[in-house]
Amino acid sequence: MPEEQERIEYLIKQKKTFSPSKGFRDNAIVRDESIYKRAKRSPEAFWESFAKELHWYRKWKRVLDWKLPHSKWFVGGKMNVSYNCIDRHIDSPRRNKAAIIWEGELGETSILTYWDLYREVNKFANVLKDLGIEKGDRVTIYLPMIPELPIAMLACARIGAPHNVVFGGFSAESLTSRINDSKSTLLITADGGYRKGSVVALKKNADEALTDTPTIRNVVVVKRVGDKESVSMKKGRDLWWHDLMKYAPPYCDPEKMDSEDLLYILYTSGTTGKPKGIVHTTGGFLTGVYATFKLVFDIREEDTYWCTADIGWVTGHSYVVYGPLANGATTLMYEGAPKYPDIGRFWSIVEKYGVTVFYTAPTAIRSYMRWGDEYLNKYNLSTLRLLGSVGEPINPEAWMWYYVNIGKKRCPIVDTWWQTETGMILITPLPGVTKLKPGSATFPFPGIDVDVVDENGKSIKEGTGYLVIKNPWPAMLRTIYGDPKRYVEEYWSRFPNMYFTGDWANKDKDGYLWILGRVDDVMNVAGHRISTMEVESALVDHHSVAEAAVIGKSDELKGQSIVAFTSLKEGIKSDSKLLDELKQHVVKKIGAIARPDSIIFTVELPKTRSGKIMRRLLRDIAEGRVLGDTTTLADPEVVKQLKDKYGHKEM
Ligand code: WT7
Repeated sequence: MPEEQERIEYLIKQKKTFSPSKGFRDNAIVRDESIYKRAKRSPEAFWESFAKELHWYRKWKRVLDWKLPHSKWFVGGKMNVSYNCIDRHIDSPRRNKAAIIWEGELGETSILTYWDLYREVNKFANVLKDLGIEKGDRVTIYLPMIPELPIAMLACARIGAPHNVVFGGFSAESLTSRINDSKSTLLITADGGYRKGSVVALKKNADEALTDTPTIRNVVVVKRVGDKESVSMKKGRDLWWHDLMKYAPPYCDPEKMDSEDLLYILYTSGTTGKPKGIVHTTGGFLTGVYATFKLVFDIREEDTYWCTADIGWVTGHSYVVYGPLANGATTLMYEGAPKYPDIGRFWSIVEKYGVTVFYTAPTAIRSYMRWGDEYLNKYNLSTLRLLGSVGEPINPEAWMWYYVNIGKKRCPIVDTWWQTETGMILITPLPGVTKLKPGSATFPFPGIDVDVVDENGKSIKEGTGYLVIKNPWPAMLRTIYGDPKRYVEEYWSRFPNMYFTGDWANKDKDGYLWILGRVDDVMNVAGHRISTMEVESALVDHHSVAEAAVIGKSDELKGQSIVAFTSLKEGIKSDSKLLDELKQHVVKKIGAIARPDSIIFTVELPKTRSGKIMRRLLRDIAEGRVLGDTTTLADPEVVKQLKDKYGHKEM
């Protein structure tokens, strides 16, 4: 291992590049670079060619209707997403192919063929209708990673009811606000889920959330953990999934949806305290994830594809459910944690099912890197042929480790950049074509006009600047649910006529893009997007707290960790009990993913003369850097005190 480590460091220093092997290239879907030219010549014709591979009840009149910043794709076309993800395949030899391979945390396996999925989705679609859900009604889904989750999503899509999936790690309060913002009439949840061997009490959280959700009429509850968690079922409101499914009719006609009808809403953190409901529609979204899944993962009929993301995030929507199923691929879902029951779990799953294409986050890669290769070497990973990375910048060390230890130097790595808002991958290598540089997401996907610009929106030839997108793409968000003004302000106001991503990036002399992270007040903690403002609001919600300023501190494992500088109200004593209480308070308000890693008590926060908290300065203090310009600071003494204090870590 030390020798290997040395070699890895050497390769990074040499700035070595990695080209696909001849064998990979010769068998790849995309084998040469002409696709970039073709897409650039006419992006509309390019996207249209993929839309034509899908099933439409009625063909579109126009590919694109672009009135900046509003796009409509495949205008006038009618289709159904569940038909495309399921019915299309049951009339083909794929009928008995595994659509979803599910591995429970306890080690159970369940395999749903396309026919099985067809049956379950049809039945559940009828259950939804029976509960009075109609086209356009929003349905909130709060489930663990179990097959009922994609079944529920596809059933919603079948009857035209937009789903709103809430990650199972979010708190009751987060669930309440997402239900209320989307005005959902139905909630689908489970008695509980497994995480690291223990039970997460989802129904209990849901009950708490539902004390303040006037629009909810019914709750459908999946039995997952059974006797391990006692649940109370409210009469007239709560119904068991298995009871409803018992007598559900086996076929439900798919709703013929307009290409621009809503497919789903997914909430994500922005720069304010209130999460945004990102709106995705039907035809464009499906075409976008269908095309990118096919080309980026170079998918073949016999592949076993595994994306480790939770379906509660956009990665799961686009690349566990819709992209793979639209392609008739086999998609694997794993319910649990990467180190349960031991740190070999991911690799045991790769071996057990013969996974060929594997897509995960840099945080997971860095964890496995730290855990060493004892467990890794127990498993046969020779089925792997392609690796992917998503969610945060991957550092060259982690890239090389992934390439050498998991891919055994055989597998290209696709480092894919995108966002909840983009719906689909926008910057990525094409595995049979692109020469890779470890740590770079390389180039825009064909047909996508990405640029790096300066403060004034002027294109930068080489160097660092803001990452923007200059043309529309099919899976782009259409708006923010219920807040069309915020859509324009958040994405289309920073630079005229460009979509602002919120990221900064570097373009090197060969045109490779290196994503550097967020420029706004959004943190990326272990691949999860968390707003500093949200954590701040949660802290000041506590009766002891006067003010709070939250920053993301660079973290070797998680990318960023959450550090909160907090001042207390008159007369409140800072001690470790209060510290724990405040952390717990954030968990209660948002969820465990937002728990601050450290809280620093301070008499005052550093502010500019106009009263703005100087977060940059706090970041410098937390990361132990030489402090930048502090001339605008109102009271320089505050900084000095903070610096002295931070030497003692927490408190
Ligand atoms: C933010 C979007 C896209 C699915 C998961 C996250 C960061 C995403 C990469 C990458 C560097 C990345 C960006 C982006 N990000 N992928 N390959 N390299 N950074 O979705 O929660 O909407 O977060 O994640 O900062 O803006 P999200």
